[in-house]
Amino acid sequence: MLNLENFSVSFGQKNVLNQLNFSAGSGEKLSIIGPNGCGKSTLALAISGVIPDFIQADVSGKVFCENSVIIMQNPSSQFFAMTVKEELGETGMAFAKRFGLNDLFDRNVFQLSEGERQKVNLVANLSLDPELLLLDEPLELLDPVEANRFKALLSKVEGKTIVWFDKEDPKILSARKVFLGDCKKQRLPKKKVRRLHGTALKADFLVKKEDFCIRADFSMQNQEKIALIGRNGCGKTTVLKTIAGIEKFSGKVSFSGRPSFVPQNPSHLFFNETAEAELAEPGNAKKLGISHLLKQNPAALSKGQQKLLSVATIKSEERGLALLDEPTTWLDQKNKSAVYKFITESTHPMVIATHDRKLLQYCDRVFLVEGGEMRACSSTAANRFFQK
Ligand SMILES: Nc1ncnc2c1ncn2[C@@H]1O[C@H](COP(=O)(O)OP(=O)(O)OP(=O)(O)O)[C@@H](O)[C@H]1O
Ligand SMILES: [Mg+2]
Repeated sequence: MLNLENFSVSFGQKNVLNQLNFSAGSGEKLSIIGPNGCGKSTLALAISGVIPDFIQADVSGKVFCENSVIIMQNPSSQFFAMTVKEELGETGMAFAKRFGLNDLFDRNVFQLSEGERQKVNLVANLSLDPELLLLDEPLELLDPVEANRFKALLSKVEGKTIVWFDKEDPKILSARKVFLGDCKKQRLPKKKVRRLHGTALKADFLVKKEDFCIRADFSMQNQEKIALIGRNGCGKTTVLKTIAGIEKFSGKVSFSGRPSFVPQNPSHLFFNETAEAELAEPGNAKKLGISHLLKQNPAALSKGQQKLLSVATIKSEERGLALLDEPTTWLDQKNKSAVYKFITESTHPMVIATHDRKLLQYCDRVFLVEGGEMRACSSTAANRFFQK
């Protein structure tokens, strides 16, 4: 079903995969585990043929596989149609109903939240009835409820070979594990306790869209870190974009200076030829452990490396408001810890949309975005949300 012999991939001088040998029989489940930048996506793309057919690379050795589909790490790059209905087709729609995706059928795929997009992508591919399913971190953009639903659905898929690429053991389907690199356990940094004083932001607004509205009324203090949690598509990103001034709203938002907005999808942010040129504050690269990547083209970085670079782009004004959309998605434990440390040591007031439970302990307050509102929530309520 899948067989690799002495399989290597290099991008120019950079050798990413070196002489890999492994195979998976029909119906077998395999987890391929390794840290950011070790070559997981490169391997998934090479098995599916995207490398070297669409992405140039030097490939040697042998790879054999049958009738495969790939769920890429960034679902936005996999759409062709405009509406969800068109993307799914008849078979896909029947399949998607089992996932409760009916409400999304008439939506424009480019207006879906990243999590919603990932779900559509998953079911569209599953409905093609492939022999081999290549999943590149498929849960990464899903909220806890959707992640559990996806795992449950996958446990019902029989007779297919599944290769799941991830940073840690996804603990699925009693899969055989192949390690592509070292994933050492990481100590979490300590939260820095600060005296909060003075108002950094006041917001009281309503955003109304065709099929969705969100109201927010809150203020925050200098240096304060606020987390926004909530289901996929609940409006966390809309809240951040409204504060950033890129979403129409009625009401009032006031703060001083220009905000830094770090979007969920890092590739939307970069337009320079080197990582270095993207940074307003070069010191951020060292703090986030990416000094060695500064001469590289941001487009050629792995997703985790791009995420770190995007967080590093926040502006240098000490008190400038920073709006971070999922700053730890796609990061391995070591890099997550670097971001926690960066956040807790930062003097910027920050509003952070996140699905990362551990990140909450570095925030001063947590808000749950639900039913068109944004409400302060206790740690018990936040825990309940993550246990769903
Ligand atoms: N098109 C490309 N050109 C040059 N280098 C590349 C290209 N694509 C990936 N790389 C490099 O290859 C290495 C492996 O990247 P890859 O995306 O496979 O890692 P990964 O294990 O999937 O990481 P992540 O966990 O961050 O998704 C990285 O150092 C990356 O910078
Ligand atoms: Mg990857």
